[in-house]
Amino acid sequence: MACFLACLPPRLLLVVGLLLPLLPDSTTLLVAAAGPSVHHSPLTGEVVHYFGTRAPPKNATVNDYLPPPSKDTWYIPPDGWETTKPGTALRTRAHAYPTLNIRNAIDTFQVLYRTTDSRNNASWSVATVFIPASHANCTLPTTSPSYNASACSHGIVAYEVPSDSADPDAAPSYLLQMREPYGEMRDMLARGWFVLVPDYEGPGASFCAGVQAGHATLDASRAVLSIAGQFGLQMDRVKLGLWGYSGGAFAAEFAAELAAEYAPDLRIDASVIGGSSPNLTTVDERMNSKDTAGLVVTSILGITVQQPDARAFLLRQLHPTGPYNKTRFMNATTMTGADALDAYSGQNVFDYFVNGQADWADPAMQDVINTDAVMGLHGVPTMPSFYYKAEHDEMSPVDETAAIVADFCRKGANILFHRNTLGGHNDELWSGRLRALEYLSAKLDGHGNITIPATGCQTVNVTIPLDPLYLLPDWWWTDGPGAGLGLAGAG
Ligand SMILES: *[C@@H]1O[C@H](CO)[C@@H](O)[C@H](O)[C@H]1NC(C)=O
Ligand SMILES: *[C@@H]1O[C@H](CO)[C@@H](O)[C@H](O)[C@H]1NC(C)=O
Ligand SMILES: *[C@@H]1O[C@H](CO)[C@@H](O)[C@H](O)[C@H]1NC(C)=O
Ligand SMILES: *[C@@H]1O[C@H](CO)[C@@H](O)[C@H](O)[C@H]1NC(C)=O
Ligand SMILES: *[C@@H]1O[C@H](CO)[C@@H](O)[C@H](O)[C@H]1NC(C)=O
Ligand SMILES: *[C@@H]1O[C@H](CO)[C@@H](O)[C@H](O)[C@H]1NC(C)=O
Ligand SMILES: *[C@@H]1O[C@H](CO)[C@@H](O)[C@H](O)[C@H]1NC(C)=O
Ligand SMILES: *[C@@H]1O[C@H](CO)[C@@H](O)[C@H](O)[C@H]1NC(C)=O
Ligand SMILES: *[C@@H]1O[C@H](CO)[C@@H](O)[C@H](O)[C@H]1NC(C)=O
Repeated sequence: MACFLACLPPRLLLVVGLLLPLLPDSTTLLVAAAGPSVHHSPLTGEVVHYFGTRAPPKNATVNDYLPPPSKDTWYIPPDGWETTKPGTALRTRAHAYPTLNIRNAIDTFQVLYRTTDSRNNASWSVATVFIPASHANCTLPTTSPSYNASACSHGIVAYEVPSDSADPDAAPSYLLQMREPYGEMRDMLARGWFVLVPDYEGPGASFCAGVQAGHATLDASRAVLSIAGQFGLQMDRVKLGLWGYSGGAFAAEFAAELAAEYAPDLRIDASVIGGSSPNLTTVDERMNSKDTAGLVVTSILGITVQQPDARAFLLRQLHPTGPYNKTRFMNATTMTGADALDAYSGQNVFDYFVNGQADWADPAMQDVINTDAVMGLHGVPTMPSFYYKAEHDEMSPVDETAAIVADFCRKGANILFHRNTLGGHNDELWSGRLRALEYLSAKLDGHGNITIPATGCQTVNVTIPLDPLYLLPDWWWTDGPGAGLGLAGAG
């Protein structure tokens, strides 16, 4: 963050003048628990806000939003749910969001569904589905003059929002009511796809529990596809994609690995995995003592939700008193990922442990990481996949992802892997977006401006600069200065 401005290429400096007057805005947010997201903007160095820095539009009040999951009885699964099959839709809420603040969406619905946690115990979660504006007339009778089959959606993308939180009330199903962080959902909706957002961390907010996240994604897809015909999705030619970046890639990648064994009935047409972190030990060590240290705390909490023995060990090894104590550490269970970034920024997380880093290296912790947070050990993706990562990703070495890709390719996978020679972890979130969208277009709609190997694998070194337009929050285009420019946003 120290090099903000100084290290920007000239092209970006052009938009800095445009942006700076907008940040920050003193308008207060109306929903207290509404947190920002977990990526720093490459342009301003600030954490990217879900809701921008502006009040929600339409003079919204708290009553215009659903309550957080812990206060919403809709999240309590109905009796007998444990004995249903994974992927069963247990409960559906049409027109789920009272106010809708994601552009190109016309409506939402939510599904409470049965899934399976990392230990293969019955669990449940919630998926939120955004319906594109182009689909407006698609629930009309097909005989209606306004019904136009070619405008109606057949593509659906399970999009993994990187919530990176150990707080069940920071689930995407709750936080996405007002705005989305990056504009990726807006851009998918503009392409006419349903966007399905699973609460892949599940009811316990198990951040970094890979098997849990994979199962929850696959079962969200099964559950939504079992009812999406009611919402006009064209089931006779439906195509399903998965997409996640960073914390979101964690879920998408595990879903792709687990799909063949856990959900052989589910046809997945594409997976898109950006900025993946194949090994939690490596990424936590790299994030520690930096502005990303909060994610080390939330990952340790998240992964031990799935393993009572590891959680008991953790609680025993945290200092009871002193500046880095158990209360302060456990406080992250009530924070969004971004609040945790602020609360623990720069800390050495190992200072919370009585034996420092040795406690992290203890088998009690390492076993849970190795079973639940190392990619490449749970199967081989059988759907075509697009991987993208910055050559100079500072959070996770590009070679770790290259090794996973190479291993999958030896086992018959079909993967396009882009290594971007420009930028780091945060930059590639934005730089990779257009290529991710084009890959999905190719696989869902049959046309995309990207070269994909028909079979086997291809690794390409690309040199893609950051597109500054992508850095503008969506509200900039709707109720900000961009509203009058007649541009549709960067996508
Ligand atoms: C929002 O409130 C302001 C001031 O209270 C008012 O001028 C405006 O018309 C309201 N807008 C809507 C959409 O209700
Ligand atoms: C979950 O699974 C584990 C291991 O299979 C088992 O020991 C435990 O009792 C289960 N917990 C619940 C709540 O079913
Ligand atoms: C829906 O139908 C109405 C009436 O025919 C038409 O004006 C409108 O453009 C249609 N909307 C979409 C998204 O196709
Ligand atoms: C039907 O939808 C397609 C795709 O959006 C559009 O190109 C076409 O003009 C529409 N037809 C009518 C009659 O509105
Ligand atoms: C994960 O990374 C750590 C440290 O970088 C390394 O010691 C460990 O062997 C790795 N685990 C696997 C399964 O590759
Ligand atoms: C735990 O740490 C917090 C923050 O440093 C501090 O305010 C609190 O007093 C500490 N608690 C104990 C029991 O030492
Ligand atoms: C817990 O976090 C809140 C903010 O989220 C902070 O105000 C409070 O001081 C923290 N408590 C401890 C013990 O760290
Ligand atoms: C496809 O992408 C290339 C560069 O990758 C660009 O030059 C070309 O204009 C694009 N074509 C379309 C139709 O978008
Ligand atoms: C791509 O970059 C890697 C790492 O810099 C290099 O080893 C490799 O030779 C490059 N591949 C091509 C085809 O240029």
